[in-house]
Amino acid sequence: MRYLVTGHTGFKGAWLTLMLVERGHEVCGLSLDPETGSLFEVARLGELMELDIRGDIRDASVVRDAVATANPDVVIHMAAQPLVRESYADPRWTMETNVMGTFNVLEAVQSASQASAQLIITTDKVYRNVNQEFGYIEDDALGGHDPYSASKAMADLLTQSWVASFDTCPTAIARAGNVIGGGDVSTDRLMPDLLRSFATGQPAILRAPEAVRPWQHVLDCLNGYLLLVDGILERGLGGSWNFGPDDSSMVSVGQVADITASLWGDRASWSCPPGEHPHEAHLLTLDASRARGELGWADRLSLEQSIAWTVEWERKRLAGADPRSITIEQIRHFAVDL
Ligand SMILES: NC(=O)c1ccc[n+]([C@@H]2O[C@H](COP(=O)([O-])OP(=O)(O)OC[C@H]3O[C@@H](n4cnc5c(N)ncnc54)[C@H](O)[C@@H]3O)[C@@H](O)[C@H]2O)c1
Repeated sequence: MRYLVTGHTGFKGAWLTLMLVERGHEVCGLSLDPETGSLFEVARLGELMELDIRGDIRDASVVRDAVATANPDVVIHMAAQPLVRESYADPRWTMETNVMGTFNVLEAVQSASQASAQLIITTDKVYRNVNQEFGYIEDDALGGHDPYSASKAMADLLTQSWVASFDTCPTAIARAGNVIGGGDVSTDRLMPDLLRSFATGQPAILRAPEAVRPWQHVLDCLNGYLLLVDGILERGLGGSWNFGPDDSSMVSVGQVADITASLWGDRASWSCPPGEHPHEAHLLTLDASRARGELGWADRLSLEQSIAWTVEWERKRLAGADPRSITIEQIRHFAVDL
């Protein structure tokens, strides 16, 4: 099969590209340039791609040309401005990329491709957060307090509207929570912040250690996306799908930092300075019963394993191992041995 992945130079995109290549698929990508030191760059993923298109999804003609040139069987749209704090700093960039970028992808796939399946990646943050104890289900109301969450809720609604209004290819929406794994170089995300600090012997700075999140290894999340793509192709599935971990992986930022510090060793530690922080949702969990029941999906890695695999990835990289080899080794271990 021939895939077009938007956001292929990002964290999830790089892992997904390698997973697809490992499964024998042809992969094309449309994204901005990778960040310096990103997994895409250090694993030299451009070498493995059929097409490595660099362009801005805010530009409709760029997206249309990329879709027409790639001529994919499957489109997975992940390109986004994905950070809550960055969305406060630059709400226009966030809205234009996440909302109009998604519009451009939906329009281009319909008008310039013969794709058989399309998957739009949103997030757990699309739900109107009412601080409920139990997990959100796919039919719960959408909302969004911060600009990032609102932009992804808009992208989600836009996709639902597009599917309801136009004769487009079979399309589904995937909503997942925080993912962790080796090779994430984002600032303002817990695991990269922890590992950067630990590697330099500094205490990591946490801004909301009590906030509870659903934690998941990137391989479990992407495995869900690909099971859903199979479901779209083979069974014509559509609609929205949550991919969240079970209750045991819903723990606080501080607990994740404690486990990571103890696995890292070297007296790694963290602290939380007092101060004003932009609003971020405090409790948000997903109910993934639909994906479990209808796709046979479940997390294969426990929270402790997910953190251990992430620490191991970074330890091996610092010891000089090839990031592509470390990543492929974990993809194969995940696929076969668990
Ligand atoms: N990482 C997480 O914990 C998480 C959680 C929930 C949802 N998501 C969603 O998963 C997707 C991937 O996230 P990620 O963690 O890999 O992010 P990332 O920041 O690592 O990668 C983002 C990708 O989008 C591309 N991109 C950004 N703006 C663009 C633009 N205007 N034009 C073209 N390409 C553009 C970047 O070049 C990059 O390839 C996003 O849609 C994000 O909202 C991520």
